[in-house]
Amino acid sequence: MSILEAKEISKVYTVDHRNITVLNQVSLKVEVGEFVVITGSSGSGKTTLLTLISGLDQPSSGQVFIDQQNITGASEDDLAPFRNSIIGFVFQSYHLVPSMTALENIMFPAELLGDPNAAQKARQLLKRLGLEERADNLPSQLSGGEKQRISLCRAMINQPKLLFADEPTGNLDSENGKKMLSQLVELKTEQGATLILVTHNPEIAQASDRVLTLKDGRLSE
Ligand SMILES: Nc1ncnc2c1ncn2[C@@H]1O[C@H](COP(=O)(O)OP(=O)(O)OP(=O)(O)O)[C@@H](O)[C@H]1O
Ligand SMILES: [Mg+2]
Repeated sequence: MSILEAKEISKVYTVDHRNITVLNQVSLKVEVGEFVVITGSSGSGKTTLLTLISGLDQPSSGQVFIDQQNITGASEDDLAPFRNSIIGFVFQSYHLVPSMTALENIMFPAELLGDPNAAQKARQLLKRLGLEERADNLPSQLSGGEKQRISLCRAMINQPKLLFADEPTGNLDSENGKKMLSQLVELKTEQGATLILVTHNPEIAQASDRVLTLKDGRLSE
């Protein structure tokens, strides 16, 4: 059964009255439990694609189905709670809330769902990623790699069915990158999640079920 389906989605940005087609009728189907890697050169539209297939942004045309539900054109009021309950997103630039501690950032999506165990779950995740001692640090007091791991904890706290990770090892050296990847895959497997990950790292691509490449607005296998 598919957890995600994109049907001929396009994204056109208008800058200075000029239209730039970043994605040109891209279709994609992902099965439950799959680990799919998306690759492509800088500026090829990888982040754009992730924001569309996760419902963070709307395509210029085409449709996106998550868990058999058509999310295209849905209002942000409807989409936000839906996303928070079934989607986890590890952003390329972290998107941590600057005024919240590491622990508070991780807890936040669970608190939004009224989960009484938010703090306990957040501490468990911190511990697994070896960051217990950073619980009370603000994002400005964390290294890039630490922020990336905090962002992973936050993405996993609601046990998402669908996890998106945009260059999650981009700020890590190869040893810590490997560690983070194995932790990511471990959590994914444990929770039975589906993983869609953007990376340039050939080792990560090798560990996946399928590699898709974006080029000239098109996606190919
Ligand atoms: N909001 C926007 N308005 C206009 N152009 C945009 C916007 N967002 C992205 N673009 C353009 O769309 C193209 C794709 O950007 P995107 O961020 O998806 O690339 P990427 O493959 O993720 O690159 P990288 O590997 O550097 O992260 C780029 O040329 C970028 O300049
Ligand atoms: Mg990107």
